[in-house]
Amino acid sequence: MTVYLNGQFMPLEEARIPVLDRGFIFGDGVYEVIPVYSRRPFRLAEHLRRLQHSLDGIRLANPHSDSEWTHLLNQMIERNEGEDQYLYLHITRGVAKRDHAFPNPPVPPTVFMTSNPLTTPPAALLRSGVCAVTAVDNRWLRCDIKSIALLPNVLLRQAAVDAGCAETILIRDNSFMTEGAASNIFVVKNGTVLAPPKDNLMLPGITYDVILEIAQINNIPYEVRRIGVNEVFAADELLLTSSTKEVLPVTKLDGQPVGSGEPGPMFERMHALYQEFKRDVMRK
Ligand code: PDD
Repeated sequence: MTVYLNGQFMPLEEARIPVLDRGFIFGDGVYEVIPVYSRRPFRLAEHLRRLQHSLDGIRLANPHSDSEWTHLLNQMIERNEGEDQYLYLHITRGVAKRDHAFPNPPVPPTVFMTSNPLTTPPAALLRSGVCAVTAVDNRWLRCDIKSIALLPNVLLRQAAVDAGCAETILIRDNSFMTEGAASNIFVVKNGTVLAPPKDNLMLPGITYDVILEIAQINNIPYEVRRIGVNEVFAADELLLTSSTKEVLPVTKLDGQPVGSGEPGPMFERMHALYQEFKRDVMRK
């Protein structure tokens, strides 16, 4: 695997950062995950806009213009194998003597990128669906920032793995659903797709946008609004989305079947439309 670190491409094994990097010491940085289909980054402009939003949120200057990022990302794609990849971009506030406050004067940020082969979820998983657990959303109030400080998400996701499940669905204030530990979640009820609003309590998923666009184009009814915890447990279907998982049916929640306990008609339709969208739009 060829990675990028601070201006240079190199084998992963050669990439090194100093121990005083603020990413290591404080989790002081942001990241992005960009899927690549047929060697083209998907929704690059939207990912770069979200990156800018994250950088603004932590008051870190963007080290590159959009055209520089585009050039770097295309080089990453060229230097790595696979028609379909996903790129991780990490930017931290750089290396400085330990102090919580920003280094003054600022130091150069650390920029690190990797590429991995993008594989779609196996057919068996699409047929069975995945199980999920619920947990209290105990993260901070800026979940719209794609921060590398992911300890809450790590612990929340591990709770799912400990239960033999794929994801943890997060409930804020004992009241409403926000998202998954590393995904967005939609509720399906009576043929309508319910989506939580893109506010400060969830990551504005790029796949989330694709799902709502597909719904709109195909006249699938949808509502963007707060989704009460009771609605999650009374759902006909639950859909999980992310750049790396596309769309998955959640068929079991906290040990109970979701709806029929099988992937439902909305999942089947959405998944088929997503595959069409991939073929006709993402790969073009
Ligand atoms: N995670 N919410 C959270 C907390 C996430 O971490 C992610 C993605 C999403 C979905 O966003 P998108 O559709 O843009 O991938 C929602 C990525 C895959 C990760 O951290 O690896």
